[in-house]
Amino acid sequence: MQNIKGKVVVITGASSGMGKATAIELAKNGAKVVLGARRIEQLQQIVDGIISKGGEASFAQIDVKDKDDLIRLVNTAVEQYGKLDVIINNAGVSQLSRIDELDIDGWEEMIDINLKGVLYGMAAAIPVFKQQQSGHIVNIISTSGIKIVPMQGIYAGTKNAVRTIAEAFRQESDGTIRITGISPGVVKTDFAENIKNQEMKTIITKNMENLAISPDAIANAVVYAISQPKDVEVGDIVIRPSKQN
Ligand SMILES: NC(=O)c1ccc[n+]([C@@H]2O[C@H](COP(=O)([O-])OP(=O)(O)OC[C@H]3O[C@@H](n4cnc5c(N)ncnc54)[C@H](OP(=O)(O)O)[C@@H]3O)[C@@H](O)[C@H]2O)c1
Repeated sequence: MQNIKGKVVVITGASSGMGKATAIELAKNGAKVVLGARRIEQLQQIVDGIISKGGEASFAQIDVKDKDDLIRLVNTAVEQYGKLDVIINNAGVSQLSRIDELDIDGWEEMIDINLKGVLYGMAAAIPVFKQQQSGHIVNIISTSGIKIVPMQGIYAGTKNAVRTIAEAFRQESDGTIRITGISPGVVKTDFAENIKNQEMKTIITKNMENLAISPDAIANAVVYAISQPKDVEVGDIVIRPSKQN
């Protein structure tokens, strides 16, 4: 992938699942990756694995709830590699439940991480992109929000907010900063592990066992989106198991 080699890519939520798979795939294609998440042992392991295969990678411990952490992550990339080509806003959680269960803590967690975390990532990267006169924002969204179903209302709401904001950003941009949304369906990751609602945890875990595709499918979609020439912007990619209804 000619257009990937040498690119500096920041990835949030890179300690597991799609973020991890994307970091590994991009590094394999010659990108310099900077990983962010809260669990540093996992980040260290992934970075060591990439470096042992001849790739370039580093990490910073971040919580996307804190806007200064996103600035620090972006600064790590710029200080270490001299520029930032891509930010992948991937960190996300799902606290799925009926709206009338009023899991307000769960709502706030999703709003803080899935929506505000993405905005903080964009806010940290945009000044660098403006100064460079180039950059690419990739947001990992979800098929939740495209097909809206019970129990996923607030989660889908956070994801659709990102979709809406990205479309406005696309129109505002003169093309020097590109934006891509990737909406996965069911993907085999640790995603269900943090769900507090036991009924939903069981359903999502079963879905994962029966239906889920590999996170590599999403990593490949990211590679496709960011390997395009400068005058080509990949807008939205929806990628789900072929059996998912
Ligand atoms: N799996 C699916 O079926 C599916 C489907 C559609 C969309 N998605 C989306 O895909 C994205 C990645 O999820 P995944 O499936 O790969 O699940 P995952 O394995 O649980 O990964 C989630 C990542 O987000 C990070 N994260 C969570 N809260 C964070 C915080 N406050 N600050 C920094 N990092 C945080 C986690 O790292 P730490 O815990 O180390 O911080 C982890 O690396 C999410 O946005 C999710 O909504 C998933």
